[in-house]
Amino acid sequence: TIHPVVLCGGSGTRLWPLSRKTLPKQFAPLIGNKSLLQLTLERLCSLNRDITCVASEDHRFLVREAVDKAGATGRQILEPVARNTAAAMAAAALRAGPDDLLLFAPADHHIPDTALFAQTVRSGIDAALAGRIVTFGVAPSFASTAYGYIEAGAPAADGHSHAVVRFVEKPTAAVAESLILHGGYCWNAGIFLARAGILVAALRTHAPDILEACERATAAITADGSFDRLDREAFEACRSDSIDYAVLEKHEAISVVKFNGNWSDVGSWNAVATLHPQDGSGNRLSGNASALRSSDTFIHAPHRRVVALGTRGLIIVDTPDAVLVAGADCAEQVGEVVRMLVAEG
Ligand code: GDD
Ligand code: MG
Repeated sequence: TIHPVVLCGGSGTRLWPLSRKTLPKQFAPLIGNKSLLQLTLERLCSLNRDITCVASEDHRFLVREAVDKAGATGRQILEPVARNTAAAMAAAALRAGPDDLLLFAPADHHIPDTALFAQTVRSGIDAALAGRIVTFGVAPSFASTAYGYIEAGAPAADGHSHAVVRFVEKPTAAVAESLILHGGYCWNAGIFLARAGILVAALRTHAPDILEACERATAAITADGSFDRLDREAFEACRSDSIDYAVLEKHEAISVVKFNGNWSDVGSWNAVATLHPQDGSGNRLSGNASALRSSDTFIHAPHRRVVALGTRGLIIVDTPDAVLVAGADCAEQVGEVVRMLVAEG
């Protein structure tokens, strides 16, 4: 059986003002009034209802609410501070049995075809049981600098997976262009399948300091209902790094299975916009929004009526206490707004 582990500790600043410190994007209602975390849990329930979540202590009740709403069960590993995905995955792997097959999934992706998702994950099982860390690749559509790139090599005997020739995390724009031109690369979907013991061994080789800090943090874990609290002092002392930089770029025994369905890292407002149908003028509207003589305008208006007249290439996001009006070409820079507001106090 596959044991899903959902990583739900990200902050999602590019989706301000929907995503806040107290309510990061994965917990906010975004698609048909469901949060991305709830949709992720529902999708994973098709593999196994017993799902571990790794999350911030601050969001424990939001996580448990989503687990309940999705009809899932399982425990929540709570982090006293965020130390990025290498530490979060290390903690979950150390809590599991070494032979357990873990499926790590981000909390904030949109993958509408659940059946194809489950089938693709299952087709990675043979490679994972053979001791490989299995990644999932999607066909790249442009030279994004926000993703990892995976060069797929020869197909394995299992008929589903490929050996990974090279893993390049978040390349510069120039490198991303060259990888696209080169061909044979897919985007890293951020989903990983591996035996717990294999991941622990890979961490021991490539990031022993992170593994040791997490060993101390999990050895002194305290249980409280469905919550498992990592030891604060030990976890605070851990280095912060992503699994992509800490392990995947360096590790030899990686495989990739290609995912051919729709996949979106709902990272910016432009990504959210594409989840809504577009009218004849390229406008995408949600909730109580309308647009007149406008083009290429996205409006997120779950509560109040918001009307755009004669606008072009705008992102408009209405929330009860803050409104964002941004140029559509600035979607990736919204995180700067949050840093500015934090600096202003
Ligand atoms: N528990 C926990 N703790 N979860 C975390 C933490 C943490 O400190 N930091 C991030 N996460 C969660 C996020 O909420 C998200 O669900 C997932 O881990 C991935 O983290 P991101 O910060 O969103 O990573 P990314 O999008 O920049 O890059 C990764 O995903 C891309 C695909 O979406 C990489 O794996 C890329 O290679 C990949 O292409
Ligand atoms: Mg992400």
